Amino acid sequence: MTASLQFPDAFYWGAATAAHQVEGNNTTSDWWEWENDPAPKVAPAEASGEACDHFHRYRDDIGLLADLGLNTYRFSVEWARIEPRAGEFDQTALQHYGDVVDTCLERGVEPIVTLQHFTLPAWVAHAGSWTNPDMPGYFSRYTRRVVERIGDRVRYFATINEPGNMITRGYLGTYPSPPFVRDLTAFDAAADGVNTSHRHARDMIKQIAPGARVGMAHALQEWHANPGGEQIMLWARELHEDRFLTACQDDDFIGVQTYTRVHINVPRIAAPLSAALLRSRFLTQSVLLPVLRQQAAAVSPAAQAVPADGIRRTQMGYPFAPDAVEVTARRVNALFPHKELLITEHGVGTENDTERIEYIDHGLRAVHCMLSDGLPISGYIHWSLLDNYEWWHGYRPKFGLIAVDRTTQQRTPKASARWYGAVAAQNQLST
Ligand code: BGC
Repeated sequence: MTASLQFPDAFYWGAATAAHQVEGNNTTSDWWEWENDPAPKVAPAEASGEACDHFHRYRDDIGLLADLGLNTYRFSVEWARIEPRAGEFDQTALQHYGDVVDTCLERGVEPIVTLQHFTLPAWVAHAGSWTNPDMPGYFSRYTRRVVERIGDRVRYFATINEPGNMITRGYLGTYPSPPFVRDLTAFDAAADGVNTSHRHARDMIKQIAPGARVGMAHALQEWHANPGGEQIMLWARELHEDRFLTACQDDDFIGVQTYTRVHINVPRIAAPLSAALLRSRFLTQSVLLPVLRQQAAAVSPAAQAVPADGIRRTQMGYPFAPDAVEVTARRVNALFPHKELLITEHGVGTENDTERIEYIDHGLRAVHCMLSDGLPISGYIHWSLLDNYEWWHGYRPKFGLIAVDRTTQQRTPKASARWYGAVAAQNQLST
């Protein structure tokens, strides 16, 4: 007889997307501007273009999600569409997202709405993005318009997606990303800008929709260091994660997004240096950032090929580590006992769909183990519903449960989609 792992009643079983990665033609955004810059300093692999044309095909896509057996759809609303010029709100775009929410509800699907997922309106970027002191005001004005439109029927809002990834990439240059700044002082200002914007948005949401549950979706990895590298690893983790987690003390939930584990290898010469010195601007920029950038380059899909170190890797080049989510969720739970945790992303870039099933299976076992220990995890949302635009890597990495033909836009659910949908529909995982 096969035993099975039972999940709690009303568990959220979902899949996620982000506007810029699936909608297509996000023409008034900073990313679109970069992707289409004829002479960029560094170019993305390809432009997003029509993406998955989800802007027009969302009904069918939500239908597919529901037919698979999932009950939750996490998606983002696009600020650049809603406010394409400062203070000018596009009613058609607002209506569109109202329709997306209604489509979810008609299909018995819980909509989880992210307000900002990496992209900004180009006008916001030109005005200084996250370091502009007006940013929290801009963000909460935009938030107000969105929540006035959909706040009566959306239970969960994630204000900002992966602030740590977004700001370390954009302001420390760990990966190429707008606004292409490389400076610790600017990073500090941008991180403050994100955290303040988050708090203002949260207050705004609560004012309009007091029952809504509000949080951020955090990129959290399992961190390791070489002997002597611990202090600098803690500093790297603080820049990527803790700086933003600590701003979430008063949030209703923490969104956990874990893809892999990270090994920091710093020169041993750094080991005897005091934590304070390691955190100085000079050493951060001269020791830590080269280590992080080198690591980013080493894990790029292009550099991946056959790894010399024998470590099993995903299509993104980083280690295959589905159960790293257990380390991160337990860490967050220790920081914020009793706070609701939602696995807002977990997924794998692979052409091998059997490997995706393995990845989800291992992730769900880890989640179940934490549930058995009493961790308040309310759902698991897989990244991603569709094969989509993987930022600077273009369309090569395949994260989707559903394949998308790049010429015809035809959708084909993969075996992993059917497998995962059946787990969700039965609310249990066979062992
Ligand atoms: C992001 C997604 C991205 C995914 C896979 C997360 O960091 O939120 O936008 O596509 O990881 O790399």
